[in-house]
Amino acid sequence: MNQKYNASESLNTKAPVMLVTGSAKRIGAAIVKSAHNQGYRVIIHCHRSEQEANTLANELNKIRVGSAVIIVSDLAVVNDSAALEQFVQTIMQAFGQLDVLVHNASRFYPTPLNNINHAQWDELFLTNAKAPLLLSQALLPYLKNQRGCIISLLDIHAHDKPFSNYAVYSMAKAAHRMMVQSLALEMAPNVRVNGVAPGVNILPETNSDQALDDVQQRRIIDSIPMQRIGQPDDIAHAVLYLAQANYVTGEIITVDGGRSLTLTGGS
Ligand SMILES: NC(=O)c1ccc[n+]([C@@H]2O[C@H](COP(=O)([O-])OP(=O)(O)OC[C@H]3O[C@@H](n4cnc5c(N)ncnc54)[C@H](OP(=O)(O)O)[C@@H]3O)[C@@H](O)[C@H]2O)c1
Repeated sequence: MNQKYNASESLNTKAPVMLVTGSAKRIGAAIVKSAHNQGYRVIIHCHRSEQEANTLANELNKIRVGSAVIIVSDLAVVNDSAALEQFVQTIMQAFGQLDVLVHNASRFYPTPLNNINHAQWDELFLTNAKAPLLLSQALLPYLKNQRGCIISLLDIHAHDKPFSNYAVYSMAKAAHRMMVQSLALEMAPNVRVNGVAPGVNILPETNSDQALDDVQQRRIIDSIPMQRIGQPDDIAHAVLYLAQANYVTGEIITVDGGRSLTLTGGS
C-alpha cells in the first residue's frame, strides 16, 4: 500500500473529504470528479489502475492544489487486522478527516453453476460485501467525528431480480444491500448509510471478457424505458444527493432508466 499526495496544502482545509474505493476510472472516477466539482477534497483509491488514478489526481490538483490524494491498495487488506489498521491510518493521514465513504470497488464476472470455485467466492464476496463492511466498521470513529455518511454502490440484481449465471456476484451484492440497511440502523444517529443501485450505467470495457457485442447492447437498450445506457454521471448525481441528504438513511436509490420495471429476473 502506498499513498501519494501533491505536496502543497489544500487551499480549503475546511472542505469535506470523500473517499471513493476503486475510483481511478469509470463510475468511481465520475463520483470523484463530481464531488471535487462541488468543493470536496477527494481520496482516490485504486488497486491496479495507478496510472489512471495519477492522471485523475493531477487533473483535480491543477484545479485546486492539494485537493486530491491517491491511495493504492488491494482491498484484501481487510483480511488482516494489522494491514487494515495501516490502511485506515493511511486514509486518515491524507486530510486528517473523513466525511463520506463511498464503497464503489467491485469485481464482476459470471460464475455458472457446476463451475463455482472458492477463489471466485472469495474474490466476489471480498470486494462486494466483506471489504465494505470491515472498512465501514474500521472508519466508523472518524465518520462519527464528522457526522458523516457511507454510500454503497449496489445493483438492481441485488434484490428480487437475480442475474442468470451471476449467482455469486448477485449474492454478494445482496449481502452488501443488507449491510446498508443494518448499518443504517446501528450507526444512527451519528452516521447515515445509504445505497445507489445502478442498472446498466456503463458497459464493460471493450477489451474485457465481459464486453457486449452490438446485438447484446441493442437488446439491453430495448429493455430500458429511458431507451439508453446510463451514464456514470447519473450515478454520481445520486451519490452526491445522498451525501447531502441529512434526513435520509437506510435508503437505496435505483438509477437504471426504469430497467428494473421491465426485468423479470434472469436477463
Ligand atoms: N457498470 C455498471 O453499469 C454497473 C451496474 C450495476 C452495478 N454497478 C456497481 O457500480 C460500481 C461501479 O461500477 P464500475 O463498472 O465502474 O466498476 P468496475 O470498473 O467493475 O470496478 C471498479 C474498480 O474496483 C476496483 N477493484 C476491484 N477489485 C479490487 C480489489 N481487490 N481491491 C481494490 N480495488 C478493487 C478496481 O480498481 P483497479 O482498476 O484500480 O484495480 C476497479 O477499477 C460497482 O460497485 C458495480 O458493482 C455498476
